[in-house]
Amino acid sequence: MMQTEIASTIPAVYAERRARLAQLMQRGVAVVPTAPEQARSRDSHYPYRYDSYFYYLTGFPEPEAVLVLVAGDPGRSILFCRDKDAEREIWDGFRYGLERARTEFHFDESHSISELDTVLPKLLGDQSALHCHLGSDGRWDERVLKALNAVRAQARTGVTAPAAIYDVRALLDEMRLFKDAHELAIMRRAAQISTDAHRRAICAVKPGRAEYEIEAELLHEFRRRGAQAPAYTSIVAGGANACVLHYVSNDAVLNAGDLLLVDAGCELDGYAADITRTYPVSGRFTPAQRDVYQMVLAAQGAAIAAVRPGAAWTAPHDAALRVLAQGLIDFGLCQGSVDKVIEAGDYKRFYMHRTGHWLGLDVHDAGDYKRDGQWRELKPGMVLTVEPGCYIRGDDVPPQFANTGIRIEDDVLVTASGNEVLTHAAPKSVQDIEALMRG
Ligand code: GLY
Ligand code: MN
Ligand code: MN
Repeated sequence: MMQTEIASTIPAVYAERRARLAQLMQRGVAVVPTAPEQARSRDSHYPYRYDSYFYYLTGFPEPEAVLVLVAGDPGRSILFCRDKDAEREIWDGFRYGLERARTEFHFDESHSISELDTVLPKLLGDQSALHCHLGSDGRWDERVLKALNAVRAQARTGVTAPAAIYDVRALLDEMRLFKDAHELAIMRRAAQISTDAHRRAICAVKPGRAEYEIEAELLHEFRRRGAQAPAYTSIVAGGANACVLHYVSNDAVLNAGDLLLVDAGCELDGYAADITRTYPVSGRFTPAQRDVYQMVLAAQGAAIAAVRPGAAWTAPHDAALRVLAQGLIDFGLCQGSVDKVIEAGDYKRFYMHRTGHWLGLDVHDAGDYKRDGQWRELKPGMVLTVEPGCYIRGDDVPPQFANTGIRIEDDVLVTASGNEVLTHAAPKSVQDIEALMRG
């Protein structure tokens, strides 16, 4: 589909989000830039990915764009973007240009990005507050501070500069934490594409294949179905590699008798899916692998059952931990009682990460985990991952457990009555996995 056809379907949700932010800000002006393009080597760039905050407020996909939002009800939104440029469009493709960007994305005004440095000081003049995000891009920080100083320089003409600077992310993080219907529709589709990619990948697993061949199956399904990219570098980790939490080399050969851990999800229209499954390379779990797998699966089941409105953010982690601690004791890998193993942190040798994170536009999504010093309560509309694991490495463990790395990860929406597992279609019972691999 050409971008010109997409334009007519741009939903009003972006304008509604801007209106909500303009109200929440109460006063002043917000300035939110999109991400810069990044060079990969000499003349080549990384595939472009917009800034998540900017995209959340605009739906505008082009680089070199800045949103300025004036507080109020309904507030005023101004887009700075690239001009139409017939010559550049021959080389790089379609650009909206000022007029189409303004009308199709429902902005009140649009200006050329080349005018940002002259127009921004005017927009900041006589405003009491500036809402921006400083500290993530030095060049952008410098540009904002320069605009601010340009306003301050006019003090003797009676123009006042913003006296307060707020981090606009504080308001936006809270908005982004609660997914609206538009976001959930995209996330359900991202989950569906990603679960199908895992189904495709599992059918390609066998001894002698390389990890990257399995990765290729995932990428094939992501792109074939219209997802723009993987949401993060896929982890395809066989044998001992599965015990390396952020393994991304994906270049080893799969050995009979080993496990294969696959952590992969697509990004669709900005939104991430994040799924991990663990498969036996030969198609059948060994008895020891099966025992550890069933423990992690039980831990995940307990954690998912703990996802409901009113539960603390930590409830899924705590539920998973009790099951894992008991399992580690049963396997002789930890000693003492469940409470002792948890309090002393003995389990951390085998389970060293938390059980999940918020999920959305960013795979580790925006949103506080604590408020006023307390772990926050789960509420409908939040989406989190539930991903317990167990990683047994070292020469001092019983040989049947050595190099056993298992993680099982699903994406879970908190609903009014409990939860919905968005990624339920990715097989995870021992029976389903072994049956699929036999097929
Ligand atoms: N795939 C990244 C994570 O699970 O957090
Ligand atoms: Mn995750
Ligand atoms: Mn993951």
